[in-house]
Amino acid sequence: MKKILVLGAYGHAGRYIVKGLAKHVNATIVATGRDKAKLDACFAAMHSTNLTTEILDAFEMPSLSRACEPADLVINCVGPYARNGDRITKVVIDAGKDYIDFANEQSHFRCLQALDARAKERNLSMVTAVGTSPGLSTLLFLVAREKLPDVSSLEMYYASGSKSEPHEAFGSVMGAIVETGFEPVEFTDGSYVKTFLGKDKKFEPMPAPFGNTYVIAFPTIDALVIPKLCPVKNVRSYWAMGAIPPGFTTIIKLLKPHRKDWSYNLVSKIVKASMKADHKKAKSQGLGLESVIKIVAIAGTRRWEALMTFPDGGGAAASYLPVITAKKIVEGAITGKGLLTPIDIIKPSDLIGAARDAGWNGTYTEANV
Ligand SMILES: NC(=O)c1ccc[n+]([C@@H]2O[C@H](COP(=O)([O-])OP(=O)(O)OC[C@H]3O[C@@H](n4cnc5c(N)ncnc54)[C@H](OP(=O)(O)O)[C@@H]3O)[C@@H](O)[C@H]2O)c1
Repeated sequence: MKKILVLGAYGHAGRYIVKGLAKHVNATIVATGRDKAKLDACFAAMHSTNLTTEILDAFEMPSLSRACEPADLVINCVGPYARNGDRITKVVIDAGKDYIDFANEQSHFRCLQALDARAKERNLSMVTAVGTSPGLSTLLFLVAREKLPDVSSLEMYYASGSKSEPHEAFGSVMGAIVETGFEPVEFTDGSYVKTFLGKDKKFEPMPAPFGNTYVIAFPTIDALVIPKLCPVKNVRSYWAMGAIPPGFTTIIKLLKPHRKDWSYNLVSKIVKASMKADHKKAKSQGLGLESVIKIVAIAGTRRWEALMTFPDGGGAAASYLPVITAKKIVEGAITGKGLLTPIDIIKPSDLIGAARDAGWNGTYTEANV
């Protein structure tokens, strides 16, 4: 039986990936993390013949290398990817193992592009961006293009409710902050322009319980990948992430948390305090775990929309594509080698059925509006 090593397994998405693998993939799973108490809290009740846990700090490179040895496939859930994520990828590829992550950061994608030849030489699949956005959004953008072949603008909106713990998805928040230092680009009017968190913000109607929601644009790997797959003029990803304080980008550029550990640690403390307050607020508002993505495709005066809901929350949403990808790799159904993205894994028209098979329990609707 094939063996899958999961790094950072008790994270926001990682815990759902492990559960999905245990249920849907015929393999043995080793779920790892650096904190024993957190590992036990997440997986002790699940220990079975096909799931074991191990303490592993994924940035202790000799230990990581040793842990990779008996594995066939490594799933990297350690975030934020923008902070040296490719160092982990490099060790996995050098150990000769197939690799999956669900990064959204463009800086990480660029680092993995530099590892493409290395993975191809070793005949390995190195899959990135298989989460919600990018991931489900990438495939839904391509569905949108099938519906509106002359589409010029593709937009993704994401909103989520409460988290089960205050610091859940800390890696996602820090990913957006760290990424600011790497000068991400948006795809606007057919070309790439530098952008920053908070540049483009607005209210967008989202389904209940969210209603009219304040969203902020922040580009992901979709902005790099989608224009190569279809000739659109604009690609935008918007997130409901609260307000960005004035001068935020300038402060982050000065503090450089993407380069300096002391600054990363300082920003981490501020983010954790603010996440704790947000968690309390979401609970008091009675918000559940549910999350939703809305895809909007615009061609002239025509508009097509799709909604995909996730009753179990954002972590679960990000877990379906990694599970589908792992299953395909274990079954030898992925022939592509080197750097792969969602479109190399699954046909857009197969997404909804495949997500159902991987445990997705939400709703999908689409309409010309
Ligand atoms: N494409 C998508 O839709 C999507 C969705 C979600 C997340 N993401 C990306 O995924 C990344 C993680 O985000 P998240 O929301 O999952 O964050 P998270 O809930 O904070 O999970 C990150 C995990 O990494 C672990 N970790 C950090 N350093 C580690 C180390 N040295 N060794 C082992 N484990 C370590 C953390 O464990 P500790 O608690 O011990 O620090 C935590 O469990 C981000 O870069 C984010 O952008 C993408």
